[in-house]
Amino acid sequence: MTHQVRAVVARGKGAPVSLETIIVPDPGPGEALVRIEACGVCHTDLHYREGGINDDFPFLLGHEAAGVVESVGEDVADVAPGDFVILNWRAVCGQCRACLRGRPWYCFDTHNAKQKMTLTDGTELSPALGIGAFAEKTLVAAGQCTKVDRAASAAAAGLLGCGVMAGIGAAINTGNVGRGDSVAVIGCGGVGAAAIAGAGLAGAAKVIAVDIDDRKLETAKKLGATHTVNSKDVDAVEAIGALTGGFGADVVIEAVGRPETYKQAFYARDLAGTVVLVGVPTPEMKLELPLLDVFGRGGALKSSWYGDCLPSRDFPMLIDLYLQGRLDLDAFVTETIALDEVEKAFERMHHGDVLRSVVVL
Ligand SMILES: NC(=O)c1ccc[n+]([C@@H]2O[C@H](COP(=O)([O-])OP(=O)(O)OC[C@H]3O[C@@H](n4cnc5c(N)ncnc54)[C@H](O)[C@@H]3O)[C@@H](O)[C@H]2O)c1
Ligand SMILES: [Zn+2]
Ligand SMILES: [Zn+2]
Repeated sequence: MTHQVRAVVARGKGAPVSLETIIVPDPGPGEALVRIEACGVCHTDLHYREGGINDDFPFLLGHEAAGVVESVGEDVADVAPGDFVILNWRAVCGQCRACLRGRPWYCFDTHNAKQKMTLTDGTELSPALGIGAFAEKTLVAAGQCTKVDRAASAAAAGLLGCGVMAGIGAAINTGNVGRGDSVAVIGCGGVGAAAIAGAGLAGAAKVIAVDIDDRKLETAKKLGATHTVNSKDVDAVEAIGALTGGFGADVVIEAVGRPETYKQAFYARDLAGTVVLVGVPTPEMKLELPLLDVFGRGGALKSSWYGDCLPSRDFPMLIDLYLQGRLDLDAFVTETIALDEVEKAFERMHHGDVLRSVVVL
């Protein structure tokens, strides 16, 4: 059997997205069919639409989603129809060299659905990050479904599926922020704001938010920033230094993805401190640093993919913290929108008006 549902499709490079009818097959072995309840609009969806990821058009966009499992393939045991799940793009294989060494968050062979979703004329669709959840229903690998407490709002929960997890994980997993640390976060959009919340959860004593937009600094404060710096007006490195006794922060998280902000992060950390790059650069960007500074300052220069998260470990834990009032996921939901408003949401994202627009179905 197949299902005809409405979904947001990007047909070509830079072209506005369109709402279309697509065909979703019933789940085969290892797969699950999920009825989507909510899906956040992430910067990466826009990268896909602009052809910045690859040329496999048409894309099915959307990958920060929560929903309910409708049916599963016959061999699937970990999730069942009726389960409330967050979709992830790290269904680990358990077999690759990273998984076998006990570091599954670096898995090199993550699972996606094997069957293709198509347009009504049979054209195969490429789901963004193997998900494609700006749709009434989508087909994923069963391992991409992480069951969480049904009491969570779908709009808030879905955000853990990408950007918010990336930010929180950049602080707690990659940056290994600890009790009493000083942390600076450069760029406080959805990802950076989540890094601020993550630093707080990990026990950081000082959390410095840096952005060029005062609106972002306001939400950063709500999420636990103890200090804010508008780096349009002042030098970010000097300001972070002044707030840390002249030394710099123990951990600096770069959540913009540009060489100039990476350099700020590099020089704004204390000796032997850690820099975490979570912002995604574009292919033409280059970085030049005196090698002696890289050597002499010691410490660690890391990058963070999806916050080095393990969905099965991190999603249920973070949803519990949310339900206990210790992690304000609702603060990331600037607006809820309908399925046919994704293009408008890209526009608002471009102007920096939102942390997240979330499609609610
Ligand atoms: N590593 C991952 O797994 C992962 C996952 C999701 C997103 N990302 C990436 O993280 C980055 C941030 O994503 P987002 O959704 O928060 O985007 P966003 O557009 O919402 O936020 C970017 C923020 O950076 C600020 N900014 C821009 N230039 C700046 C500058 N020179 N100095 C200081 N601040 C500046 C903007 O004002 C904005 O608040 C993107 O590059 C995105 O692709 C990475
Ligand atoms: Zn693996
Ligand atoms: Zn994303």
